[in-house]
Amino acid sequence: MQPKLFRLRTHHLLLFASGTGSNVRNIIEFFRHDPAVHITGIVSNKPDAGVLLIAEKENIPVLLLEKERFFRGDAFLPDISKFNPSLLILAGFLWKVPPALVQAFPNRILNIHPALLPKYGGKGMYGRFVHEAVKAAGETESGITIHLVDEQYDHGKTIFQASVNLLPEDSPESIAHKIHQLEYNHFPQVIRDYLQTLPA
Ligand code: GAR
Repeated sequence: MQPKLFRLRTHHLLLFASGTGSNVRNIIEFFRHDPAVHITGIVSNKPDAGVLLIAEKENIPVLLLEKERFFRGDAFLPDISKFNPSLLILAGFLWKVPPALVQAFPNRILNIHPALLPKYGGKGMYGRFVHEAVKAAGETESGITIHLVDEQYDHGKTIFQASVNLLPEDSPESIAHKIHQLEYNHFPQVIRDYLQTLPA
């Protein structure tokens, strides 16, 4: 009798980031020795973003987006499709995803937001602006939301939230630090769990 051959299903991740990319670095580290997950590319809208240094160091191909074409043209669909992504991960990506891209990858775009949506979401609510607003409102907790991306800002179905207590002496910077720790602790696992729910 012939032995049965099992072919390992490999998922391709395409990571989008606009800034430093510490979440990108953490995701790369998490999946480094996972034969079922391959990071095929890093996409950025900023030619001087720190995340591009990570891409270079890790030898991961880069796609640089140009604003006009991303929003008014074909949303870089042919270039993005070349990466054959199972999932698009927005890890600190600050542009709104245009409808053409949402429609091309239904339920296959995940975003991380550094607050407990629906609070502190929407246009202009990113990075330190979120933490400044949380501090100004005197919140006693904040957190992270990982959600599917739809055609509205910070709006698609939530698939994961985690929270952290805030102290009166917390500053926007210390809140940012607490939120980043939550992101590092949870985002890669949530990605891995979500990949397992995807049809082949
Ligand atoms: C992260 O905290 C992420 O949640 C946030 O940008 C930061 C990027 O940090 N995203 C948003 O604000 C999206 N609205 P990083 O570059 O160090 O990973």
